[in-house]
Amino acid sequence: MKLLIMGRPGAGKGTQAANIKDYYKIPHISTGDMFRAAIKNQTELGLLAKSYMDKGGLVPDEVTIGLVRERLAEADCKNGFLLDGFPRTVAQAEALDEILSANGIKLDAVLDVNVPAEKLIRRMVGRRVCKTCGATFHVEFNAPKVEGICDNCGSPLIQRADDTEATAKNRLEVYDNQTAPLLDFYSKKGILKTVNGDQPLDKVFEDIKESLK
Ligand code: AP5
Ligand code: MG
Ligand code: ZN
Repeated sequence: MKLLIMGRPGAGKGTQAANIKDYYKIPHISTGDMFRAAIKNQTELGLLAKSYMDKGGLVPDEVTIGLVRERLAEADCKNGFLLDGFPRTVAQAEALDEILSANGIKLDAVLDVNVPAEKLIRRMVGRRVCKTCGATFHVEFNAPKVEGICDNCGSPLIQRADDTEATAKNRLEVYDNQTAPLLDFYSKKGILKTVNGDQPLDKVFEDIKESLK
């Protein structure tokens, strides 16, 4: 399975990617997670990425494409992968096409988790993530058993730096301007599968499995 998962910020890409990864046994490659790991490790890449992410803008294409190119060359991607949050611009989508075709690979499907924009600020502002294992929760929609503590590993939950209302609004705008055109790009290739993301988490995953049959 060679998959992409797309959707507006907060639509549930990461949440569903965790299910897909376990079910189809493929690595989950999230550029957002890779940038956050770099920020945590205070690398040069992290410093650069932070300056864009804090404002809700996009990290430059050259940097992002290089990162994904290297990641896809790793051995665990041989039998499949799930890209989350990449590509996000037309230039990134074209670069991905080149990387894949140079390796004789084609995408099997592009999932679009569709949620109306007006519902997403609440999803982002209420999100909580585990500091240690990265598991995602929501104070209203997917609350942990103990407030502020990860169900999986017991570590404290934190809020993402870009999950403020102002930055979330900006991210939604950037999506409309730069990323939404990719839906057309993949629709024309005949591999776009739109899934209703405005449903309970389990139901969204059921629909994803159905659409990939
Ligand atoms: P990234 O980390 O990719 O963020 P994003 O696209 O804004 O998406 P999110 O991770 O916020 O949302 P999600 O769809 O994963 O939702 P989640 O499952 O967590 O990117 C962050 C930044 O990095 C970018 O702004 C950019 O600066 C940079 N970047 C990354 N990739 C880049 C690229 N390719 N090029 C350039 N720059 C790049 O769910 C959200 C919340 O909702 C959670 O609390 C969850 O519990 C809850 N939830 C999920 N599903 C449901 C449901 N069905 N019902 C109710 N609540 C739900
Ligand atoms: Mg995510
Ligand atoms: Zn955890």
